[in-house]
Amino acid sequence: MLQKTSDADWWRQAVVYQIYPRSFADANGDGIGDLKGITSRVPYLESLGVDAVWLSPFYPSALKDGGYDVADYRDVDPKIGTLADFDEMLSALKTVGIKVMVDIVPNHSSDDHEWFQDALKAGKGSKERERYIFRDGLGPNKDQPPTDWKSVFGGPSWSPSGVNDGQWYYHMFDNSQPDWNWDHPDVRDDFIKTLKFWGDRGVSGFRIDVAHALTKDMSGDLPKWEDLVKLTHQKLSNGNADLVHPLLDRDEVQDIYKSWRQVFNQYDPPLIAVAECWVAPDRKHLYASSEGLGQAFSFDILLCNYDAKEYVDCIKHSLKGSSLTDSSTTWVLSNHDVIRHASRFAMPNVENNKNHPLVIEAVNKWLVNKFQDPKPDVKTGLRRARAATLMILGLPGSTYVYQGEELGLPEVVDIPDDKRQDPTFFRTEAKEIGRDGCRVPIPWKADAKNFGYGPDAPAHLPQPEWLGKYAVDVEEKDAKSTLNLYRKALRLRKQLQTAEELEWVQEGEDGILHYKRPDGWEVVMNSGKEAVELPTIKGKKVLITSSLEELKDDGKLAGETTVWLKSG
Ligand code: GLC
Ligand code: CA
Repeated sequence: MLQKTSDADWWRQAVVYQIYPRSFADANGDGIGDLKGITSRVPYLESLGVDAVWLSPFYPSALKDGGYDVADYRDVDPKIGTLADFDEMLSALKTVGIKVMVDIVPNHSSDDHEWFQDALKAGKGSKERERYIFRDGLGPNKDQPPTDWKSVFGGPSWSPSGVNDGQWYYHMFDNSQPDWNWDHPDVRDDFIKTLKFWGDRGVSGFRIDVAHALTKDMSGDLPKWEDLVKLTHQKLSNGNADLVHPLLDRDEVQDIYKSWRQVFNQYDPPLIAVAECWVAPDRKHLYASSEGLGQAFSFDILLCNYDAKEYVDCIKHSLKGSSLTDSSTTWVLSNHDVIRHASRFAMPNVENNKNHPLVIEAVNKWLVNKFQDPKPDVKTGLRRARAATLMILGLPGSTYVYQGEELGLPEVVDIPDDKRQDPTFFRTEAKEIGRDGCRVPIPWKADAKNFGYGPDAPAHLPQPEWLGKYAVDVEEKDAKSTLNLYRKALRLRKQLQTAEELEWVQEGEDGILHYKRPDGWEVVMNSGKEAVELPTIKGKKVLITSSLEELKDDGKLAGETTVWLKSG
């Protein structure tokens, strides 16, 4: 396996901190987090010990999908700052050795994008329309959508052009997010221009949004929605992963990434990219190929129950996947699209989680009933979150940390309906609550206005009273806080993380997961409730524990606890 040796390999075992800019820090007090806010928090990021930050979109946007509706890929939203603010932020981060990754959203633009507006104006049959996916409607008046497909956020995935010409445009997500036609050379060229634009400004890499959906085949007879859903389910499971799908994970998408790789390699060190691809584990290595994007998110661990056996299976599968290329694995427990892991783990495990999406379904059910049935066990959730985090931080590969998880933040459930923003909530008529609960601005100071997030207007998503308990200034003073656990773990990890090797000692039996890393570094997790006697840990030095209790040198590992040990 490759070792972490040169600057070009910085990403292989990096800790990348995800910033959701609008909810991080609001410097000018208008209630919306901004780039100057991020710059003001550079000392915090430095003290946390992260190697890089990834910024969710900060581009001009009507915010119909939290910024993933991009109106201009090469500018900063005036609500958030300017390009000069971006440069200032980047240089402040670089000064303390933190790299910057930005989000590229290539599947769709915003309907405010100049090219979409041009397409509407230029009319049916025009060159301008070819950059997007327009089709005639069905029926004598063309007033029926071309297919009965649904959007990922609910509701139809076709909307009328709005200019009375019988044409409809395709949007996999919200109707404010028309999909690009990736067969069009203008689209390809424009994204190359965008990559170079940010590369030249000094970013170190990219997170690629919905990387598995860019190329589509809408020719011929299109399947009914019902059949498409069946096909999607089949394709997402191993064994059938090579089935051809008209919209998802088509082989030719890799040609685009090969052309991007040419751009990445023009920089020194080469730019990096990580794919957001919800594909079968068996297909992930295609996205992680060093001839393409180079790395792919593994969400499999996020879809596991809190369970040592599930974790071991998932880790083995993920490591096997990354060994098919010369990439490294990624680990993610939380991000801006899923319920925070401290809350996921506050719920009972789901039965029969062979089919991972069960966890997502269960989570949505709890969200819809506002966590009333069953009631969350917040203490257990945090205890398990700390143990799971410490377990993944010991693994070879890179870890993505989502803002606020280092404070142990739970999901915010009590957001009034009229304050919700996620299009999922509206498009499903509240059958799915959506993702606002993990996007509430984070608390910096328990006693300050807006918990120190911003000096004036209230945060754009309301911050509940209880958030103050998790404020940075509270946790800084508490040696056992989650913040201090992360800080210590990240510091230690820097010293310990060398070769990307892992050797199993115990593979999940009896709730125990135990692996060895080079140089006598060991990680042991007990996912069960009860303490377990473990001869394998007796006499070894404890480097760090996720538990609030001190660990005694009696060979016992408390329930729902992870420890890092040093032997010899
Ligand atoms: C990705 C993003 C998500 C967004 C969607 C559409 O899944 O992570 O936040 O809504 O793409 O861009
Ligand atoms: Ca602001």
